[in-house]
Amino acid sequence: MSSKLSGMSAPSHSSETAQQTVSFDHTFRRRLRDLLIWRRDVRRFRRDPLPEGTLNDLIELACLAPSVGLSQPWRFVIVDDAARRETIRHNFATCNAAALAAQERERAALYAQLKLAGLVEAPAHLAVFADRATAQGHGLGRHTMPEMIEYSAVTAVHTIWLAARAQGVGMGWVSILDPQVVAAALDVPPEWKFIGYFCLGYPQTDDTIPELQQSGWEQRRLPTSVIVRR
Ligand SMILES: Cc1cc2nc3c(=O)[nH]c(=O)nc-3n(C[C@H](O)[C@H](O)[C@H](O)COP(=O)(O)O)c2cc1C
Repeated sequence: MSSKLSGMSAPSHSSETAQQTVSFDHTFRRRLRDLLIWRRDVRRFRRDPLPEGTLNDLIELACLAPSVGLSQPWRFVIVDDAARRETIRHNFATCNAAALAAQERERAALYAQLKLAGLVEAPAHLAVFADRATAQGHGLGRHTMPEMIEYSAVTAVHTIWLAARAQGVGMGWVSILDPQVVAAALDVPPEWKFIGYFCLGYPQTDDTIPELQQSGWEQRRLPTSVIVRR
């Protein structure tokens, strides 16, 4: 299945012409900074649906993401089926209950109050996998670090996150799931490694502060604290 996906030679994007140059001005950079500042992990969605084709448009942009060896190992499953969604929701509830039970006593009460998914309200559901068996890229860059396939799929996720936010659509990452249950529920090939499950929709509110910070779970650290020089 992995390499049997159709469309190996994707249509070139209009902006993909060789030997063109492009520059981004100060205004664009300021807006890009705004985009990064205002991107949030969203769990509180309005229920109104996204316009037809939104997910496909976002996935098209995600396919411009970098990938090891140009392997483009990302695989997207748009989950519309009510029964499959229900299986995911049920699995989240099970995994979240187990995660709560594993919390230290002094953290458990706070954990129990967190909203960690918008699976009920979000109008759009998307699962992302990395195809470990893909022949695309001919193995370049994976010899010593095979996990680069998964890293590549994550770059596509972040691209969608930003592209969605740019059009006012919120996205929330749901990782409190059993990958085997997700793979079975979505009936994907065994070579596809589960990367994440994503809720998308219009956010109830916009914010510059992560919800986990607002709820007192964790603080952002200073950028200077993550830099070392050697
Ligand atoms: C790999 C990954 C997995 C995540 N899993 C979850 C999750 O299961 N539930 C949740 O509410 N948020 C999840 N998040 C969102 C983070 O909690 C969030 O990114 C972080 O608190 C910072 O907030 P921000 O994205 O709004 O800046 C995940 C984020 C990443 C990158």
